Amino acid sequence: MSPQNTRILPYGPAAIAEAAKLILSGAPVAMPTETVYGLAADAADGNAVARIYEAKGRPAFNPLIVHVDGLALAKTLARFGDAAIALAERHWPGPLTLVLPIRDGAPVASLVTAGLDTIALRAPAHPAMRDLLAAVGRPLAAPSANASGRISPTRAEHVFAGLGGRIPLIVDAGPTSLGLESTIVAETGAGLKLLRPGPIDLGLPVAAADRIQAPGQLASHYAPAKPVRLDAIVAEPDEWLIGFGPVAGHASLSGSGDLIEAASRLFDMLHEAEAALPPRIAVAPIPQIGLGVAINDRLKRAAAPRS
Ligand code: TXA
Ligand code: MG
Repeated sequence: MSPQNTRILPYGPAAIAEAAKLILSGAPVAMPTETVYGLAADAADGNAVARIYEAKGRPAFNPLIVHVDGLALAKTLARFGDAAIALAERHWPGPLTLVLPIRDGAPVASLVTAGLDTIALRAPAHPAMRDLLAAVGRPLAAPSANASGRISPTRAEHVFAGLGGRIPLIVDAGPTSLGLESTIVAETGAGLKLLRPGPIDLGLPVAAADRIQAPGQLASHYAPAKPVRLDAIVAEPDEWLIGFGPVAGHASLSGSGDLIEAASRLFDMLHEAEAALPPRIAVAPIPQIGLGVAINDRLKRAAAPRS
């Protein structure tokens, strides 16, 4: 896709209708929110979520924020404690993201949470994002719409400079009003933890141990409970082999060697391998190109010796 294939449409009914059509067809769309522009995709569609990572060129899978139209839908996805309900009632819609235990069977692709058992939820206040949520009628995964390693975009022009040619549509509603990413708070058994300071000041200290700037380093990130061997072509007798391309394995990330499909299935496959009978997991080689870089990053973490 060349940059001229990325359309910029001014916010309005036509832009929202086009954005909804693209989202339902599995493409990511850049949308304004009151904080920064986000790159939105259907949170239930693993391939669409993989396309977000592909467009951003992210070398690792960070868990993404899921945008909802309000508390009722949010409660179907996550388990809220009293403190989280009070925060949502006070600050939603608005620039507050809540990290909560995900409900079993919540219709959210495992790539969205990067295999974690928590989910980040936010009900945005911006009318464009709210219109899109109403038009598609489902939760939208959306990280900030910047290329990996670049600062978050607060104007459609910033999105175009970073992602032009990589996404089909940017909905332009001018500069965002807050210009700073949402405040992120986790509700844990030990109380509320501020994971990222932002526009809403809750008077909580920033949690030092697991600052989300480097979430890939979090000990809480999903790692299978079995030893993992990488670059495997043939399974040993005690191994469950996750295949890719020509390596069939017991189950395959993508028989056709499609990296988008492989990314969308990665965490499901690791869970499946963990639940399988063989005591060890092996994984076929994944090419170190495109989304393969992020897949290999995650696999290396899964294979790293644990203390
Ligand atoms: O204002 C915002 O929050 C914007 C707009 C688009 O909504 N979004 C945004 O998303 O800043 P992103 O992906 O750039 O940042 C989300 C942060 C990441 O650092 C990620 O690690 C963290 O949220 N996060 C998501 N799910 C998490 C979870 N289950 N546990 C801990 N951190 C989580
Ligand atoms: Mg970001």
